[in-house]
Amino acid sequence: MRQGHVVVLGSVNVDLVLRCAALPVAGQTVKGGDFQRLTGGKGANQAVAAARMGAAVRFVGAVGADESGRDARDQLRAEGIDIRHLKELRDVATGAAMILVDEPSGQNCIALYEGANAHVDTALVDCAADDIASAALLVCQLETPVAATLQAARIARAAGVPVLLNPAPAMPLDAALLASVDILVPNESEAMVLTGQSVAGASDPDHALDTLLGKGARSVLITLGADGVLYGDRETRLRREAHVAQAIDTSGAGDAFIGAFAAALVSRAPLERAIDLAQRAASISVTRRGAMASLAHACEIA
Ligand code: RIB
Repeated sequence: MRQGHVVVLGSVNVDLVLRCAALPVAGQTVKGGDFQRLTGGKGANQAVAAARMGAAVRFVGAVGADESGRDARDQLRAEGIDIRHLKELRDVATGAAMILVDEPSGQNCIALYEGANAHVDTALVDCAADDIASAALLVCQLETPVAATLQAARIARAAGVPVLLNPAPAMPLDAALLASVDILVPNESEAMVLTGQSVAGASDPDHALDTLLGKGARSVLITLGADGVLYGDRETRLRREAHVAQAIDTSGAGDAFIGAFAAALVSRAPLERAIDLAQRAASISVTRRGAMASLAHACEIA
């Protein structure tokens, strides 16, 4: 991999986070405890996670011309991220995420309002084409439209820039997009949606991984929560145990993993070291509240 900057194409949200003694079921109302309004979005979180691990990051996305959008721009700028391709849109609100966190377990559930994220289009990607083509790595997720992601992946591949896709939130994927991915990083449930296969048993992740390689991804790294991670490409297969941590809030743990992994790759860390750093970053993030707020800095990781 060439050295240089990471381009993150993705979402920006305002996260409205409520911590509850138990998550409500359909039809139930529960009283919450602590409430926070924070900048988030998988794209923005992954950009910040990579920047905090030392990567030079350029962000491509969209926010509304509102308070949440201004907060997000200020936050990303303060993290040292280049936001010249973070478009501010009139007459559309910044994306939002309603996040309920189950206090005892730290698990969460999230509902999204797309807002400005739905307006990330191929024209915006074309404006960022030079940044993408000169990058060391392109990182994308699925909270912004697939057409824009596909366009960015095409530009990257034509320039020899590897493409990392975190297929979150889970949805069936366009074959053309999967075929343009160099590193696919799903969690268990995303891998299940992409393959239609269980990823729960001891050997099941291997089957799902083989299926994803068969669908055209050049390499796949499945994060398995408490069961660690599984990496595979045409020649290599690696399994790593999870790093144990006392989780109080798992929001953004996947973003911490992806950002740290991307930063390690562009610093030319060997694959096993990059996975280890990503696992450490994720295990720190779950011990803190919030998604972006919980992301680790390089100095915290041995
Ligand atoms: O991965 C966590 C993120 O998912 C939150 O910040 C929220 O905005 C949703 O996009």
